[in-house]
Amino acid sequence: MGTSEAVLQVLSGAVPRLFHSDSCFSMSDSIYASKFRLKCSRKRASRCLQFLKCSSVLQYGVREIGSGVPNKKADPSSLQICKCQKSESVSGVTTEDGNGAWFVDNAKNLNPINGMMNAPNVLEFQDLQHLKQENEDLKSNSANGTLRDTFHKISVDSIEDEAWDLLRESVVYYCGSPIGTIAAKDPTSSNTLNYDQVFIRDFIPSGIAFLLKGEYDIVRNFILHTLQLQSWEKTMDCHSPGQGLMPASFKVRTVPLDGDDSATEEVLDPDFGEAAIGRVAPVDSGLWWIILLRAYGKCSGDLSVQERVDVQTGIKMILRLCIADGFDMFPTLLVTDGSCMIDRRMGIHGHPLEIQALFYSALLCAREMLAPEDGSADLLRALNNRLVALSFHIREYYWVDMKKLNEIYRYKTEEYSYDAVNKFNIYPDQISPWLVEWMPNKGGYLIGNLQPAHMDFRFFSLGNLWSVASGLATMDQSHAILDLIEAKWVDLVAGMPFKICYPALEGQEWQIITGSDPKNTPWSYHNAGAWPTLLWQLTVACIKMDRPEIAAKAVEVAEKRISQDKWPEYYDTKRGRFIGKQSRLFQTWSIAGYLVAKLLLADPSKAKILITEEDSELVNAFSCMISANPRRKRGRKDLKQTYIV
Ligand code: GLC
Repeated sequence: MGTSEAVLQVLSGAVPRLFHSDSCFSMSDSIYASKFRLKCSRKRASRCLQFLKCSSVLQYGVREIGSGVPNKKADPSSLQICKCQKSESVSGVTTEDGNGAWFVDNAKNLNPINGMMNAPNVLEFQDLQHLKQENEDLKSNSANGTLRDTFHKISVDSIEDEAWDLLRESVVYYCGSPIGTIAAKDPTSSNTLNYDQVFIRDFIPSGIAFLLKGEYDIVRNFILHTLQLQSWEKTMDCHSPGQGLMPASFKVRTVPLDGDDSATEEVLDPDFGEAAIGRVAPVDSGLWWIILLRAYGKCSGDLSVQERVDVQTGIKMILRLCIADGFDMFPTLLVTDGSCMIDRRMGIHGHPLEIQALFYSALLCAREMLAPEDGSADLLRALNNRLVALSFHIREYYWVDMKKLNEIYRYKTEEYSYDAVNKFNIYPDQISPWLVEWMPNKGGYLIGNLQPAHMDFRFFSLGNLWSVASGLATMDQSHAILDLIEAKWVDLVAGMPFKICYPALEGQEWQIITGSDPKNTPWSYHNAGAWPTLLWQLTVACIKMDRPEIAAKAVEVAEKRISQDKWPEYYDTKRGRFIGKQSRLFQTWSIAGYLVAKLLLADPSKAKILITEEDSELVNAFSCMISANPRRKRGRKDLKQTYIV
């Protein structure tokens, strides 16, 4: 019996009420899908209109986002302010809750010409380095433990203070309001590429850091403005991606106001991948957006944002894009290479774990936030069905540990039948020699990807960590993932947390899979480089499993170098010893990732804004599916008994 049949069997019969016979795999779904297409095209028109109105409103400088009412009529009294206001002149910014003060102060320190830190800041930074060095020296000379502890605390505190200063300097403003953070503010790099943009995925740790500090405005603005971008029509060679796709990044541009040479206006210019290197569509953006939206509501207590009609529509558009039927046999999302944090060719096309973990997490978050209304019943049903099928698929087929590896090693192949054990026809020779050595006796992990006759056995960190945080992995699997991290500390953490994946592609494999990418050489960048930003996802996963000491240890490792090294984007070599060859310095998500890790370790209860758990309905549905597991019950007879249309 095939997986989808098992799913059908469970979802159609065995699960009480929550799941009806018209599951996402059934005939009725095609009707649902076509209805939805109609709705979508109508929506497209109305959202376009909304954008047009929005841009004209913005010309008048009305803070539409703050009003909470889309398309509110422009207030002519604001006309002057916006016309004269340039992106850099943000003094006078106020925020509703009084948090605006520091934005004003820090905005003054921005160099408006090229976005680099201005001189006083650089000096301040050098002073700080000097102070830290003095602390280090004192520490090494001191035989007194208490004194050493005190100095350690001072130096750690100064790293945190510095990180906050840098994070605040990275804030990008739009019409006077904070709206996101720039990807990197590296004064040593002449070639900015797109690092001067606000990346959706990069902003997540920044947003979380601000939320945890009680500074909610920037996150609220980010959520609402990126929502407006969702409806932009961007094309590449006459083709446009599906509505609901969120951009990878956007930039605030100051352009001359039509018909008035003396005035300028600000516009948001999104990149959906049509300008990105490699032209990759960011599948993860919308998923992260949903996760951040839930975190915003949970942390601030302000549910009015997620309840807004336009926000609800935005959630549904993302979900529909993900849930839409295609040619797939699997419940996992089928994507091209480079559609997530790894945004270059690295052989992750197909069903990469990172996207599946974010997909699962976003489905759970959306399920919590979607307002119950007649129009969304079909969507909710499809969402529930997908959640169960997805978790079953990943837990069952992506999981490897010693036991499973030994099973694969002894697989029979070419099994044509409904009850094949080796469903994907994996040839045992696929088990690479590195894995035989690497797999610890205690521990396991979710593999990177699964396709017919192919298991990508590489360990991908973000996918595994977020599977723990979101509950895509079972509790046992989650503990086993952390066990593996502990057992493989020298490979995954070593000199700097955390390897993006393990091991590196080398030799001919590197040539063929990456296209001989000089940026992704072995043990560099996406090809098993170490990315400090991953500290925050590691911390969330460890806190969820009540093992925060693992994350604390990793943070300590990072603290030894990260500030002295000027907050690099990534590190190279097997043990993460060098600052990455082409690594940006002052990379915002390295800074924010560190801060989120520190804030969460200081108050682990706050991690609940990011953690999701299965509720009893899903657990029930899942256990029904397990009992229909083809490994236990085989043959088509069972299917006939319970398959109700
Ligand atoms: C690189 C990373 C990507 C990140 C971007 C901006 O392209 O691969 O994940 O979003 O830089 O920092």
